[in-house]
Amino acid sequence: MWALLVLIGAAAASAHLQDSTFDGQKVFRVIPQNDEQVEIINSLASNIQVDFWQPDSVTLVRPKMQVDFRVEASEAFEVEDLLKQSGLEYRVLIADLQAALDAQFDSRARTAAHSYEKYNDWETIVAWTADIAAQNPDLVSRSVIGETYEGRPIYLLKVGKSSPNKKAIFIDCGFHAREWISPAFCQWFVKEAVETYGKDTATTTLLDKLDFYVLPVVNIDGYVYTWTTNRMWRKTRSKNAGSICIGTDPNRNFNAGWCTIGASKNPCDSTYCGSAPESEKETKALADFIREHLSTIKAYLTIHSYSQLLLFPYSYTYKLPSDYQELNTIARAASEQLRSLHNTKYTYGPGAETIYAAAGGSDDWAYDQGIKYSFTFELRDTGRYGFLLPESQIKPTCEETLLAVKYIANYVLNHLY
Ligand code: ARG
Ligand code: ZN
Repeated sequence: MWALLVLIGAAAASAHLQDSTFDGQKVFRVIPQNDEQVEIINSLASNIQVDFWQPDSVTLVRPKMQVDFRVEASEAFEVEDLLKQSGLEYRVLIADLQAALDAQFDSRARTAAHSYEKYNDWETIVAWTADIAAQNPDLVSRSVIGETYEGRPIYLLKVGKSSPNKKAIFIDCGFHAREWISPAFCQWFVKEAVETYGKDTATTTLLDKLDFYVLPVVNIDGYVYTWTTNRMWRKTRSKNAGSICIGTDPNRNFNAGWCTIGASKNPCDSTYCGSAPESEKETKALADFIREHLSTIKAYLTIHSYSQLLLFPYSYTYKLPSDYQELNTIARAASEQLRSLHNTKYTYGPGAETIYAAAGGSDDWAYDQGIKYSFTFELRDTGRYGFLLPESQIKPTCEETLLAVKYIANYVLNHLY
């Protein structure tokens, strides 16, 4: 088995994961049963290019954990051989990534225009932010909270009926570029707000009493890159001094136990924490906005995919937050709400003990700023399509997620003072 690894290593010395075509690439799932089997995955990852889908990096792999990873077409056979010979139980989650990629665009909406049931590129989302604000001036306003590394304005929508001294809930999407269902949810949320205000009493009350800050895409440069060049990109697109590797993991870049655990100091890794907390213009802009609005923001929700999880602090430590009981009760009820629509099952709990310890996340940071109701959503699915969730699932995913978000918003509204 070790000889085999060496062999793969030699063959793969110059190989890199393809940027443009994913023909023949495979996604495997393994569940290492013990440290020895974790070690097999480690050596695999150090010998060939492996893109970890879940968890986010090889360093986070622990026994009994479900591990999904993508490998190059030319290495898929050898990897499968190795898995067989090593006795590690595995499944081929996606047999041909290019086929799954093409299958994402299965929406019936055959339009190039903006659609809530399609994945929209950045240009289309920008136009949408302008339109929805223009068409709903009493409910939606657009602002710019900063600009990205590549110079794109970072748009923020404020959704709510204006009245004095309102508290607010902050929701962001698109931290990780390849998690396309996330920006789709932020757009869906705003659509539902404007379409049901004045019709649905629950929505009307929420928008009368609270403002929702909705940041449709945080990591815009990364998102653009997933459309133009590499669908599987995760990080920002900033240059790293002294390295040829690009990008920082925005969700390892916050000042919450920064880079102490579950994050990498190597700019070439997918969980690179950056050169300093808030080194990225995008995370800095977000953090600045929240700091400036700390007296009004009562909840922070950040939307990722995939795994079907509802997480709350902490992730940078195994210590439980002082509000553990309350947050756990909310997460349970919100998960139940979510499940009530299409029977989608969510797991919930503190990040560190529910998935893995990983420092520098925005949820932990927001919580430590005093925003008690801080949650990370990991939307559908559990790995059948992973990041390549078909467009036909946008509607059911957003509908069910909205139930959970509305539950949390209502709870926050009822516990304001
Ligand atoms: N998959 C997400 C990530 O690793 C989970 C975030 C949970 N929160 C955290 N602070 N690590 O970025
Ligand atoms: Zn993510």
